Amino acid sequence: KGEYVQIKVADTGAGIPEDVIAKVFDPFFTTKPVGKGTGLGLSQVHGFVNQAGGSVEIKSKLGAGTEIVIRLPRGEGHAGVHEAEVLAEGAGTVLLVEDNPDVATSSTVLLEELGYRVKWVTDAESAMREIERDGIDIVFSDIVMPGKLDGLGLARNLRRSHPHMPVVLATGYSDASRKSGSEFLLLRKPYELHELSNALETARSSVA
Ligand SMILES: Nc1ncnc2c1ncn2[C@@H]1O[C@H](COP(=O)(O)OP(=O)(O)OP(=O)(O)O)[C@@H](O)[C@H]1O
Ligand SMILES: [Mg+2]
Repeated sequence: KGEYVQIKVADTGAGIPEDVIAKVFDPFFTTKPVGKGTGLGLSQVHGFVNQAGGSVEIKSKLGAGTEIVIRLPRGEGHAGVHEAEVLAEGAGTVLLVEDNPDVATSSTVLLEELGYRVKWVTDAESAMREIERDGIDIVFSDIVMPGKLDGLGLARNLRRSHPHMPVVLATGYSDASRKSGSEFLLLRKPYELHELSNALETARSSVA
């Protein structure tokens, strides 16, 4: 079955009750008060690990703590193989649609490194309003977001209302990527700088 790398993380916290533990990997499931938790922490771990061909297991004992074991297939290649790659110079303003502030911050760093200006909004409705206002050259949106419209809905709306707007979607969930099929350019999280660069370039040239 090949070699795996195992990462174990444990705490000595409150532990997780049995009826809760079945749901901890569900997107948006949280027992934290409104505004304190997005419920996306563990579901993103689940998404990343599955897309990498690994597995994640959680064990918990009330009052004693929780242990999470992640298994990932060991790679055979060498890290840093893309170092020599020349990345295309980005131009114009990217509308970044991302509900998680940490992800938005790291995406902004990457986009700016590529030469794009970045305008950030946290949901699809705000994205639509921003696009109506003009000044956006390309849309880069997360798929799974709270709110009535998700990233896929946003992309479908835009195809009708702004057929010349380049759109790139990103997701950490294999379910979400399956649903979007091959309708739109899709990046799987976590992605590397050259993948982001290529996706944006491809989107720009395909509508030009
Ligand atoms: N180490 C832990 N100890 C006890 N309960 C946990 C632990 N990790 C997760 N949980 C439970 O699982 C739920 C879902 O976890 P998840 O990380 O997906 O979201 P969150 O922690 O609520 O929000 P976020 O990660 O966005 O801050 C938590 O609300 C909590 O009830
Ligand atoms: Mg969490």
